[in-house]
Amino acid sequence: MQLLMKIGRNDPCPCGSGKKYKKCCASRKEPLKVDLNKYYQQTYGIRLKSKEQIEGIRKAGQLVMETHQMVAEHLKPGITTDAVNELVHHHTLKNGGIPAPLNYRGFPKSVCVSPNEVICHGIPGDRVLMDGDIVNVDITTILDGYYADANYTYFIGTPSPEAKRLVAVTLESLRRGLAMVKPGNTTGDIGWAIQRYAEGEGYSVVREFVGHGVGLEFHEGPQILHFGKKGTGVPLVPGMTFTVEPMINLGKKDLYILEDQWTAVTRDGRLSAQFEQTIVVTEEGYESLTPFSLEGFVQAV
Ligand code: MF3
Ligand code: CO
Ligand code: CO
Repeated sequence: MQLLMKIGRNDPCPCGSGKKYKKCCASRKEPLKVDLNKYYQQTYGIRLKSKEQIEGIRKAGQLVMETHQMVAEHLKPGITTDAVNELVHHHTLKNGGIPAPLNYRGFPKSVCVSPNEVICHGIPGDRVLMDGDIVNVDITTILDGYYADANYTYFIGTPSPEAKRLVAVTLESLRRGLAMVKPGNTTGDIGWAIQRYAEGEGYSVVREFVGHGVGLEFHEGPQILHFGKKGTGVPLVPGMTFTVEPMINLGKKDLYILEDQWTAVTRDGRLSAQFEQTIVVTEEGYESLTPFSLEGFVQAV
């Protein structure tokens, strides 16, 4: 695998020696042997995953998506967000997994459930989901020590045309971001594509929350911004595993956090939607480790 970036003289040497490039391989004539694993660890704090680790994350991802499917069947008007939590919690345990959110930095429940104006990190409680609501369910599961993280925005009953369009544009934003994922592109290209599309459709992109490396821990490097400039950030290489999870608002991008210290809501009280997948960068592009079945979803944007 060729290194697709310029190495600064003061950067750590890509050979993995731990010395500065200028003090190590910079003066060598023969082509440089790069230990990408060491280089990404030392330079960016990113752990590239082995085949076995990717397989482990894929298995966790399968359980995440089975859990989504089960939840989807229960999402009807009248269900409380706590009932969604119960479903996710028990289904995860029954299948040998651990719900990653539970007690994560003090988060009190097993899943994030974020209706309408809630952008993300909604804490399940006694809120009742009503006909016409949209709701994001964000499931992260630990299976055999591996993490996978995926969220989906669902319709409760019959959506309004404006909710339908927001959700469709948010899903397409994720697709456009993912379409940038291939070796040679950078993490910044993903955010650039998302911002350009979502803002072009008249919506706004939340800045305060980002996608993230995932797999051996809940949140690892790199950060994946959902906005920004082309060519910035970290060059993508095979074996990187991370999420892309754009949060798109119908109104303005501004938010505030409720007193519970978690729930992020739109400042203008208007709708927010989100989709998330865990992916692995491959030689050709990427592969989703939490593949969505998009059946039944609005295609028209
Ligand atoms: N699953 C969220 C994400 O996509 C993180 C939730 S943190 C929690 O990164 F503590 F609220 F669960
Ligand atoms: Co995530
Ligand atoms: Co998530």
